[in-house]
Amino acid sequence: MTDILIQIAYLAAAALFILALRALGHPDTARRGMRMAAFGMLVAICATLLHERIVTFEWIAVGAVVGAAIGYPLGMWVPMTAMPQRIAFSHAFGALAATLVGVGEYLHGVHGAGLTAAKMTAIGFEVLFGSLTVTGSLMAFGKLQELLPGRPITFTGQNVFNISMFVVGVACLGWLIYDPFNVHVFIALAVIGLLVGILMVVPIGGADMPVVVSLLNSYAGLAAVATGFAIDNNILIVVGALDGASGFILSIAMSKAMNRSFTNVLFGAFGAVDAGGAGQALVSGEMSPINAEDAALRLAFAQRVIIVPGYGLAVAQAQHQARELVDLMEKRGVEVRFAIHPVAGRMPGHMNVLLAEAGVSYDKLVDMEDINERFSEADVALVVGANDVVNPAARTNRASPIYGMPILNVVDAKSVIVLKRGKGTGFAGVDNDLFVSPKTSMLFGDAKQSLSKLGAEVKLA
Ligand code: TAP
Repeated sequence: MTDILIQIAYLAAAALFILALRALGHPDTARRGMRMAAFGMLVAICATLLHERIVTFEWIAVGAVVGAAIGYPLGMWVPMTAMPQRIAFSHAFGALAATLVGVGEYLHGVHGAGLTAAKMTAIGFEVLFGSLTVTGSLMAFGKLQELLPGRPITFTGQNVFNISMFVVGVACLGWLIYDPFNVHVFIALAVIGLLVGILMVVPIGGADMPVVVSLLNSYAGLAAVATGFAIDNNILIVVGALDGASGFILSIAMSKAMNRSFTNVLFGAFGAVDAGGAGQALVSGEMSPINAEDAALRLAFAQRVIIVPGYGLAVAQAQHQARELVDLMEKRGVEVRFAIHPVAGRMPGHMNVLLAEAGVSYDKLVDMEDINERFSEADVALVVGANDVVNPAARTNRASPIYGMPILNVVDAKSVIVLKRGKGTGFAGVDNDLFVSPKTSMLFGDAKQSLSKLGAEVKLA
């Protein structure tokens, strides 16, 4: 009877996860999606607590308290700009849990419970993918947090070596299916998994880490599926499959938005230091500074303004000031829209989430494909802390590392005002022709302060 209850609860949780993923696909419904997913997880955990294999609740309670004590501050206080490394960190622990379950199940099997070929396949897969996700995620965390060098570290024959190591890992798995009680091979499998995780991430530049994090998310999902088979738990199989598939789709979507092939991200050592400087835009000319009063006048007397938010807006936490400025402009009859580039910021949907938090209505957020042809009608394009996503070198400079990346057509607007602190480059580390274009004026300063000043001046205009 209890088992039927558990399975029904698992089914309900799985349905909630699927509906949550669907709801997460649109900013309007994303919050509801998160709530559904959290409730689904609660249902799954409560059902699991009813399981007859649970021997004692004390350690589970300790784990829940420690987990909540770590998870709550992580969720509440880590800034959104640090989300990619936070997620990498969580993956490392999720994967560690899967790996330890695998090791536990293996020891249980070796010490009397027995190991069938099917069970050994699931455990081996879980430990291989789990352990490579642990070290891979920690490496990604280190690179994103700048604890490790962000540049790719490469050596001759690296890709062949890495792939060979992985093949040896798979061979160990094959050996264990044939001879499950060979503990040495099991240890070798886990060690190779840990090494492959490090080797896989070392040659990838910090710039590509969000794609790697998402791919590791998918590996953690696969490890969870294997855990589900190993311990005969249906919800782990379903959730792991959802996680694996969505992480993989997201990695591909991110690569596509940067116009990079998936294999180029994984094996291309993108972001290597280019001694010849071939990737730099051939920027010549001076930037034209503007003060807040003049910039505000242009905004206040414009008919159409398109705001382009970028990573700098997120770092400055300037979303509220952006919304206030929009309200003031709209009061004066200015039509304002936000142009959302798919990889603006540091994670998928970064700009949508920030602007939604500040109460910007979703109908003002327009995706790149839809807004690009409307830039030519805009009197002012106001670029707030964005750089790479508006860099014309992506179209014009074949030698640029971002060549081919789809960009926002800011350069087509009648005039451009750029808010940034100084002459810093963007994530890809390349110069930007847009900033020295005759139609561009630079308002230097922190985005939050500049937007506040603009708001105050628009009020007076
Ligand atoms: P970036 O190219 O990173 O440029 C941000 C600009 O903001 C910098 O040039 C910086 O110039 C300025 N800035 C920094 N702090 C600021 C502050 N407090 N106030 C005002 N300006 C500030 O940003 P982007 O255009 O959004 O492009 C995103 C980049 O991240 C792309 O290269 C993309 O490929 C990469 N990426 C994104 C993702 C996802 S999924 N979003 C994933 C992987 C990689 P100053 O230093 O002069 O102020």
